[in-house]
Order: sequence, then C-alpha cells, then structure tokens
Amino acid sequence: MKGRAITTNNTIFNVYNETKKRLERFGIEDYGFEARVIIKHITGFDNKKIMMNYNALLSPYQLNQVEDIIMKRQARYPLQYILGEWSFYGRTFKVGEGVLIPRADTEIVVETALNLIKDTINPGVLDLCAGSGAIGLTLSLEREDSNVTLLEKHTPALRYCKLNKDLLSADNAQCINGDVFTGDCSNGKFDLIVSNPPYVSEDDMKTLQPEVGYEPEVALCPGSDELLFYREIVKNYKKAVNPCGAFCFEVGINQADSVKEILSSAGLKNVEAVKDYAGIDRVVFGTVSEVQ
Ligand SMILES: C[S@@+](CC[C@H](N)C(=O)[O-])C[C@H]1O[C@@H](n2cnc3c(N)ncnc32)[C@H](O)[C@@H]1O
Repeated sequence: MKGRAITTNNTIFNVYNETKKRLERFGIEDYGFEARVIIKHITGFDNKKIMMNYNALLSPYQLNQVEDIIMKRQARYPLQYILGEWSFYGRTFKVGEGVLIPRADTEIVVETALNLIKDTINPGVLDLCAGSGAIGLTLSLEREDSNVTLLEKHTPALRYCKLNKDLLSADNAQCINGDVFTGDCSNGKFDLIVSNPPYVSEDDMKTLQPEVGYEPEVALCPGSDELLFYREIVKNYKKAVNPCGAFCFEVGINQADSVKEILSSAGLKNVEAVKDYAGIDRVVFGTVSEVQ
C-alpha cells in the first residue's frame, strides 16, 4: 500500500483493520461496514470466505486498489460510485455520477407499493422521477405480471435506468425520457403511480453529508418549494390513475402531513403515512375513489 502502508504483513485481517482505522479517522460513520465492503470488492470473497481467509496475503495490485479507494473516501467520494454498483431490495443496481444512489429507506416505498397492487392482476405502474430505476424496476421484477413505465428527465440518470433494466432483464418495464412538469405519460392509465421525487429543502441541502455533494442536485432539491413535485405530480397525473388506483410517494422528514394534505385536497381517499425503520413517516399513499 502507498501512503500509510501496511508494513507488517498484508493479510486480509491487517488490511481490513488498517482500512477501518483510516476510514474512522476521516469521519466516516459506517467505517467497519465500509472496510468489509471494500475487502469483499477487491477479493471477490463473500463474508464466509473472508473469515476463512483472514491470513491470506493480498497482492500488490489488490493493495493498490484498496489504497486508491481509501484516498477517494478521504475526499468523501461516495463508496457506491467507487464500486459502480449498490444493492437495493436484494438486487444490484449500477450507479455512478449523474444518478442518485438508491437508499435503504426507499425499500419502504417498494413494500408499500407492492401492498397497494397486491390484489390487481397485470397492474400498470408508472414510476415518476425514476433515477436508477430502483423503485420501478424492482416492482416490475417482484410482479412479473405488471407493466411498468419509468419516467426520468435527466439523461445521465436515464442512461443508468436503461442499463439497469437491461442487466436485470426487466422485460416488462420501459424507461422513458420525460418531465413530470409537462405531464409526460399522463395520457396513459395506471393502477399505481409511485414516485420518490426531489424533496430536500434548500436549507437542509447545506447540512447533508459531504458524499451527497457528489450526487446530482436535480435529484435532491426541487428549489425553494420542497413540496413542488408532490403538488405538480398530483395535479398532472390524477387523471392517469385508474378507479381504485393509488399514488404512493416517498417523503422527507416532517413532510408527511403536508403531502397527506395535498392528496386529501385533490380528493384522494384512504390517505395514510407509513414509517421507515427509524420510526419516521417516510411514505404517503392515497387511493382514487371508484367513481371519478
Ligand atoms: C430523489 S431522485 C429518485 C431516484 C429513484 N427513484 C430512487 O428512488 O432512487 C429524483 C429523480 O427525479 C429526477 N427528476 C428531477 N426533475 C425531474 C422532472 N422534472 N421530471 C422527471 N424526473 C425528474 C432526477 O433526475 C432524479 O433521478
């Protein structure tokens, strides 16, 4: 290893411990988890194989790889972009600059969405602001009888969406370039419209972890009105929801009540919030009544 080289011996055990210490010094919260992910990435070993090979030596090439990753993490470049992929709902999604990294919290959106369409045969689903395709492609794969349209405005993100669709063989999904503000795809009919839109306020943008600064701002911040996308989506797409169909949104901290109000004011029924694993209201959904 260059820089703070491991000089005793370059066993997996030593490199893992040294990596952990250095990441901790850089202020990285999940340093132990990240050190393990890095070792897994450069060895290609799973957890069990790592345990069984603690005393195996890493090659000079592998040591350089580790060093390279550590230096990038020192600059707080996201680990997910370094690896070029990240896991979401048990599947691997390709990610890189220009696309939002799928978050674990967003899995609650998927759970809620699956529940909302559980009794619908061949559900038509529209994922607005699709990014990597984490939500829409997962739904299409979890429900093979569904037909999922994923809409994304920005070209780099759309490229990842299409790549992930191909790599995951989501044959019942299509990725489309479009803008929710002009109501693209709103002339279709869907049983579920799901969205994790940009919702971070301008004030909150200033308080985020340094890694988030490498992610596209257009994926995170809607500008001065943090609820803008919810209002626009409900306004532009309500007519695109089938009777008994639903909207399902991811929301930011303290936004659930306002988003519930947006849905209720638009005439949606059964409006509810769902909490994430930290007990925070993370998803808001509402259904369209039978007679519109
Ligand atoms: C919070 S990210 C969500 C990405 C993905 N759905 C996920 O959950 O990981 C929001 C996405 O909305 C896209 N976006 C921003 N403005 C848009 C617009 N006007 N129309 C459609 N997509 C837009 C961004 O490029 C970004 O990919």
